[in-house]
Amino acid sequence: MPSNTPLGGTLINRVLDDTGATALKDAASKLPAITVSPAEVWDLKLIAIGGYSPLPGFMNEHDYASVIARGRLTDGTPWTVPITLSVKDAGNLKDGDKATLKDESGKLLGSIQIQQIFARRFEHEAQGVFQTTDEKHPGVARIRAAGQWLVAGEVSVLPETLPSLEQGMEYRPAAIRAEIEKRGWKTVVAFQTRNPIHRAHEYLLRTALETADGLLIHPLVGETKGDDIPADVRTQCYRTLIDKYFPAERVILAALPAPMRYAGPKEAIHHALMRRNYGATQFIVGRDHAGVGNYYGTYDAQKIFETYEAGELGISNLNFEHSFWCKGVGGFATQKTSPFGKELQLTISGTRLRELLAAGEYPPPEIARPEIAEILMAYYRGLK
Ligand code: ADX
Repeated sequence: MPSNTPLGGTLINRVLDDTGATALKDAASKLPAITVSPAEVWDLKLIAIGGYSPLPGFMNEHDYASVIARGRLTDGTPWTVPITLSVKDAGNLKDGDKATLKDESGKLLGSIQIQQIFARRFEHEAQGVFQTTDEKHPGVARIRAAGQWLVAGEVSVLPETLPSLEQGMEYRPAAIRAEIEKRGWKTVVAFQTRNPIHRAHEYLLRTALETADGLLIHPLVGETKGDDIPADVRTQCYRTLIDKYFPAERVILAALPAPMRYAGPKEAIHHALMRRNYGATQFIVGRDHAGVGNYYGTYDAQKIFETYEAGELGISNLNFEHSFWCKGVGGFATQKTSPFGKELQLTISGTRLRELLAAGEYPPPEIARPEIAEILMAYYRGLK
């Protein structure tokens, strides 16, 4: 097996060829148009390139309800996050129509063959996916602000909707799968992150790489919440770190063009399934994966993997306890691997780290590499 099989067995490709693209552009002015929100544009791109295989488009009501209620598509395939296209007013749309998809500036992105239009069940979705209806939760806030009508159907995407790279990184599953095959890796461990890589992350990465042939460092570069560090700054950090501290032949750095949902456990499964589509065989799940605030228990995102049958997800979770620099051990450790107490643990919250950097103070080298701290400090200085 060259790399892991995609979910559903085949990598979806919904990118139009030249003939299809010309035909769509010719017909576009006669079709009703749907404006796609920025977060949904990321979803559209992922459908097009197969990152969401087996989905060929936006979900219908059956799949939507099934995903929310049981973490599966109607056919039983594991899936935990609704992938939907919303509109505020569905008045000019009807089942069976073809509609164009445009971004907020009016640029043509592709089309949708409308299978069905149905109402979002806001409370049900928020509770089922995010485990809360609190609109302070950024994922809940997003579905609350979005249109309450959902348009389901297969999509076709213009090639020019897809940039050649995202943040200077490759991002297409087919290309990453080909690279894994070229390198001859049989086992690949993938790492999701929405942050710069700190020393604790680095500990997970090195430990994980000991168990696999290669490492896919796979930062999410789609829409994130306002106080997360922008993808271009993070990318500078990833490159700097990997160039200096990781063996190039064992690491692939690639982008995941997905929006962040902050759905904790449900998103951990979603993150793992996408990485399977990129060819990974293992997926790192640490503490409070894809969490925000105090909505989820520290290890809920690990426990959810046990609710699926062995082998069903087609990618295994590699769990890590909360990792920290332990002064007693003189290295990184977890409560599982260190006999020392909390007083010898060096950890810094994200908020405290931001405060330090904003004040021009370097965090200790056990928290962040000086090269990374430098890049972040330059960014925070620029914010003032
Ligand atoms: S996330 O939203 O993408 O999960 P983040 O980029 O902070 O946020 O985390 C990336 C991965 O590293 C997640 O699997 C997370 O659980 C894990 N992680 C982050 N910090 C630690 C830590 N100190 N100890 C263990 N796991 C961690």
